[in-house]
Amino acid sequence: MGQEQIANDAERSSPFPIEEVRAQFPALAEPFLYFDNAAGAQIPQRVLDAVTHHLLHSNVQRGGRYPKSEAVDRVIAEARAKVALLLNAADPEEVAFGMNATSFIRTISLAIGQSLPPQRNEIVVTDLDHDANVATWLALRDMGARIVFWRMRDDYRLHVEDLVPLLSERTRLVACTAVSHALGTLVDITSVAAAAHAVGAEMFVDCVHYTPHALVDVQAWGCDYLVCSGYKAFSPHMGFLWGRREKLRSLPTFREDFIPDEPPYKIEAGTFIYENVAGMAAAVDYLGWLGGKLLLPGASANPRAKIEAAMAGIAGYERRLSAALLEALRGCDAVIYGTQEVEERVPTISFNVNGMAPADVTAAMAAKGIGIRDGHMYAPRLMGRLGLAMDSGAVRASLVHYNRLDEVEHFSEVLRSLIARQ
Ligand SMILES: Cc1ncc(COP(=O)(O)O)c(C=O)c1O
Repeated sequence: MGQEQIANDAERSSPFPIEEVRAQFPALAEPFLYFDNAAGAQIPQRVLDAVTHHLLHSNVQRGGRYPKSEAVDRVIAEARAKVALLLNAADPEEVAFGMNATSFIRTISLAIGQSLPPQRNEIVVTDLDHDANVATWLALRDMGARIVFWRMRDDYRLHVEDLVPLLSERTRLVACTAVSHALGTLVDITSVAAAAHAVGAEMFVDCVHYTPHALVDVQAWGCDYLVCSGYKAFSPHMGFLWGRREKLRSLPTFREDFIPDEPPYKIEAGTFIYENVAGMAAAVDYLGWLGGKLLLPGASANPRAKIEAAMAGIAGYERRLSAALLEALRGCDAVIYGTQEVEERVPTISFNVNGMAPADVTAAMAAKGIGIRDGHMYAPRLMGRLGLAMDSGAVRASLVHYNRLDEVEHFSEVLRSLIARQ
């Protein structure tokens, strides 16, 4: 059964429990309309509780022989298992924790750069990606890498047919996003991984923007490395990396001599923020809770089935948000950057309003209690492709599954009145 079919079935059998969902997120009680989720999402109460519990009861270093320290070891091990469940990783030890996505991309890219054979030195990057997944690879030019750009078409999508001719026995790795954090357009990651593997190359996925919106499945996708920021996926600030065990084993990474040359330890430099890792585990529990509400009657209630049900329900509900937001923007005669096909996107939409500077739009919306973002979205090449200046860029509204259709309606009314005053 396809993801879309599951979402439709889920929507038919149990409508998306939006009010119950919102009640999980204490920050949503404030009178503020939050449409800047691509920059970081709010957290459920259970995540807050997990962080607080950790700080109150286990705020010590791991690896000691006393109970509080042993509790930290358990929290980390459980969090690896929960994140492995979220990603459908074969082994929790393939999950490494750290500060953020960018530092993990840098760690892996440096390791790849240090072991780059001259006859296989090409790295493919895209002009759709966040610069965290471009600049980090461009920096390998100093280490002998040759960079090849896979360019977005004018329909705002990356087409795998355009990637294939760029690949050869010289390709070391393809780095690309699963969905654009600026335009909201999805990328066919399974086909990208298959194309990369067909020439003996590896595939690195930036999953930062995708994870809060749809189901991740590293085994079905066939990718080799994947990076996420927990703070975009309902956890506090932290990041995690997944990599195939044998790939991570063979990479040369920095570690002190006493750190085992084994994943995940060889990927985790120093101490990370344990309380936020506890929060990430609770964020996965939250998704399991939501999935439990959305499971089809009689369906298996195993933990992965709950994650699948949650993400299918989220994806289906978010398509309705996308459709409403697109309609609202069309009603304002906004220039919309990105596909208008809701099946091919998430509700992250960049746009411009004729005659208004993006910063003026977001400032005026902020004055009305609406949080959206303007600027280059950390994607300089994408701004170039869209014909937008780096110092002004576009306006971006980014929604997740706790946003409501009536919020889109309110956003639309405020934007329309702003334009009418011009
Ligand atoms: C798609 C994407 N990739 C990478 C990053 C960088 O993530 P981090 O802040 O965790 O380094 C972001 C942050 O906005 C992002 O949206």
